[in-house]
Amino acid sequence: MATRKATTVYLYELAWILPSFAIPVGMLVALVVTAFGAGIHLPGQERRIDPTKVAETAPFDTPGLVELAPGQYEVRMTAQIWAFAPNEIRVPAGSTVHFWATSKDVVHGLLIPKVHVNVMLLPGQVAHAVARFDTPGEYPIICHEYCGIAHHTMAGKVIVEAAR
Ligand code: CUA
Repeated sequence: MATRKATTVYLYELAWILPSFAIPVGMLVALVVTAFGAGIHLPGQERRIDPTKVAETAPFDTPGLVELAPGQYEVRMTAQIWAFAPNEIRVPAGSTVHFWATSKDVVHGLLIPKVHVNVMLLPGQVAHAVARFDTPGEYPIICHEYCGIAHHTMAGKVIVEAAR
């Protein structure tokens, strides 16, 4: 009687133990396949620069919005306590915007929730993110890494104007 009970418990446990190995192994395989097979990586660090010379380092020596081609823009953005520069960007609806950003001082974040831009801005690292703005309106830019006493005030916006 005691043996049968022990066996029942063992099978019940096995039903939990096997998935608890199979699921992480499956996730690891998916991670390896997508990272090395499909080449999918998180948006983020593109290259390193000297964090003490951000203003002299390209492309941050010419900050702001640059039109690359019709409907294609690039923003060279720096974060510093407690503002983004540029703090406000205007583009026509339907634009694709490349954000190149870094921090001049401490760790900041660059979050544009409506278009799924979400990167950390680390001193000495250049972050890159791409977003397409199809719908006219205001898109808040938010610092989502705690960066000091006025962190909650650190915000900007993308203004998307109706195409004429
Ligand atoms: Cu910058 Cu929080």
